[in-house]
Amino acid sequence: MEEKQHIGQLFDRIAGTYDGLNHGLSLNIDRRWRKKTVAKMPSVRHVLDVAIGTADLAIEMLQCGKAEQVTGLDLSRQMMAIGKEKVERLGLKGVDFVFGNAQQMSFEDNTFDAVTCAFGCRNFQNLDEGLREMYRVLKPGGQVTILEFSYPSNPPVRACYDIYFTRVLPFIGRVVSRDKTAYTYLNKSVKSFCWGEQFLQHMREAGFSTEQFTPLTFGIATVYTALKS
Ligand SMILES: C[S@@+](CC[C@H](N)C(=O)[O-])C[C@H]1O[C@@H](n2cnc3c(N)ncnc32)[C@H](O)[C@@H]1O
Repeated sequence: MEEKQHIGQLFDRIAGTYDGLNHGLSLNIDRRWRKKTVAKMPSVRHVLDVAIGTADLAIEMLQCGKAEQVTGLDLSRQMMAIGKEKVERLGLKGVDFVFGNAQQMSFEDNTFDAVTCAFGCRNFQNLDEGLREMYRVLKPGGQVTILEFSYPSNPPVRACYDIYFTRVLPFIGRVVSRDKTAYTYLNKSVKSFCWGEQFLQHMREAGFSTEQFTPLTFGIATVYTALKS
């Protein structure tokens, strides 16, 4: 997908409207998905949040006491600038933002107690490289927790989903963000991405074990967990 070559720039363009659109277009369900994702994490000291964006997942894990320190990695400086503002406004300590590519991280092997990623994997140019990097930087015994969109399998839900994602969401996204392509890309990227058992297979190939997935809201999103043994 051509947009993936310039993904940081795409998110830089929509950073200012990203949070509002996310919560508005999902009727705040995205907040519940992040809470459920954090609930599946162990309590640890230092977490790497890959594709941290505007830091919603990092904020949730700090507020729930699941992490003492979060290092966030992202390719969009604008998304991270908004995340930083939010973290400061909330008076939270312990988040550092690092510009970089999930497929080629600058961190040492076995650095983090846990790794998370919310709605980031779908945007990687190469999913397997991203998962292998998450595995490399995670300490043995650590857990990776990934939240990603998926495509519902129930036919009536799928029909509603198709109308919403191909018509309603791109229209509202285009009007509010004033970006012609970003929200069409969202729909295309979800449909062409793997989910469920296929995603677990990619995790296994990256080296993870004890992988599990939990569909959320009729399978519109899914949480994946796995361990580095
Ligand atoms: C849909 S946003 C998700 C942000 C945040 N995790 C959340 O839950 O709202 C996707 C983020 O992934 C980042 N991203 C995409 N590809 C990336 C890569 N290869 N390396 C690092 N960040 C990446 C984008 O810049 C963007 O901030």
